Amino acid sequence: MIPPISRRRALQLGGLGLAATVVGGAGLAAAAGSRFSPTPGAELSEPAVLRSTGGLLQVRLEAAEQRVPLAGGEATILGYNGGLPGPTLRLHPGDRLRVDLANRLGEATNLHVHGLHVSPQGNGDNSFLAVQPGDTFAYEFRLPPDHPPGVYWYHPHHHGTVADQIFGGLYGAIIVDDPVSIPVTRERVLVVSDISVDDTGRIQQPSPMAQMMGREGELVLVNGQRRPRLHAGPRDRERWRIVNACTARYLRLRLDGQQMQLLGIDSGHFAEPRAVEEFVLTTGNRADLLVTTAAGTAELRALPVDRGGMTGMMGGMMGGRGPGGTAFPTEEPVTLADLEVAGPAAVPLPAVPARAAARDLRAEPVATRRRITFAMGMGAGMGMGMTFTIDGKRFDPDRIDQLVAAGTVEEWTVVNTSPMDHPLHLHVWPMQLIARTGRPVTEPTWQDVVNVPARSDVTLRVAFDHFTGRTVYHCHVLDHEDRGMMAVLEAR
Ligand code: C2O
Ligand code: CU
Ligand code: CU
Repeated sequence: MIPPISRRRALQLGGLGLAATVVGGAGLAAAAGSRFSPTPGAELSEPAVLRSTGGLLQVRLEAAEQRVPLAGGEATILGYNGGLPGPTLRLHPGDRLRVDLANRLGEATNLHVHGLHVSPQGNGDNSFLAVQPGDTFAYEFRLPPDHPPGVYWYHPHHHGTVADQIFGGLYGAIIVDDPVSIPVTRERVLVVSDISVDDTGRIQQPSPMAQMMGREGELVLVNGQRRPRLHAGPRDRERWRIVNACTARYLRLRLDGQQMQLLGIDSGHFAEPRAVEEFVLTTGNRADLLVTTAAGTAELRALPVDRGGMTGMMGGMMGGRGPGGTAFPTEEPVTLADLEVAGPAAVPLPAVPARAAARDLRAEPVATRRRITFAMGMGAGMGMGMTFTIDGKRFDPDRIDQLVAAGTVEEWTVVNTSPMDHPLHLHVWPMQLIARTGRPVTEPTWQDVVNVPARSDVTLRVAFDHFTGRTVYHCHVLDHEDRGMMAVLEAR
């Protein structure tokens, strides 16, 4: 294994067309016609799109180890149906999604449909299931007719191996179409992920320290490609659906020189598109974004996000950031893709129709208030014994941590007593953000992953509608989740 720094350099040089020198002749010998870009700078490719017809989408997803061209070399990754990301599943509200999940991995896995408002019971969005190697399991998800349109995703959720399996490449996008379509020149799906591979193309196991911080891969990929190229004409309006499928990395996204407007985050939608200079997707978040192009070239960049560290937890020896604290590799911006805009200008498109105002739980009665605490502590032994808990406890699938009355609205104050950020994710039911550190949010903001900053708190409301059953809430820094920062909720 070459030292991380020189590998990072090597990869950066690769971006300048020196990949062959750095990684050797094999690096450029990837098969032509592959949907994986063998070299950086290739045109963006998109995963296959599978659409529902007549209210049903029936798909088979095979999870297996694969050898694929990756970032100028070759790598052995995990993928659904032959590579990463898996196919994009495109649905309408009211549809049924049936997935036969075939496990060709050497260990147990399962499937979670992140953000979908569907039942957690039986063969639905049930994270307590395990699909053993060699087995195939038939999942069925029924979207209610009023299911929110938006960008969702699927990934494994087998406790203990979630970070490894997602880092390895098991993820794909789900789109629930809008009843009212938005006039655009073209749509793109951008699944952003990160991964680290060694010289032989094997996935690198993160150190215990990296796992405690939440691992960040050295390669940041868009649809499995490193730094692909996108082409458009001036005054085009593009709709980008961006998934942050990174295991722990937060993405502060910028596209300087181009106009960005957010339609929404996760299943939430703003009444009017919101002009933004940049926005942050924590791990697990998605953006529904309009890009109105201007002639020239622009870089889609992910800027560093300070998500805290372990300062003060380990005698000050590991700073989160700064010269002494190299725990996160995201201290430099990463260029995810290049957008080239040239040619004759398009005729402007009709305006984006306004949307109905989102439901606002601030106007609804709250049945129950809860306080939930995310904490980190020192276990026995240096570092290795760091504990990640919710309300002082580690995940136990047989314990019910919150019993909720189905059909009621609850208010949760989620407190983070640790020096590191933890993004809270609740399955099945979306959350309305009410306040950050006691400061009220002024308009309805719906998300299914909400960052709880270090030594801070957030207040949320949730309407436990439509479904009963057991599900989970957890930190979406997936190394933390695997180490026990997850708990069980039952709606009854
Ligand atoms: Cu993205 Cu519980 O998962
Ligand atoms: Cu989820
Ligand atoms: Cu965490």
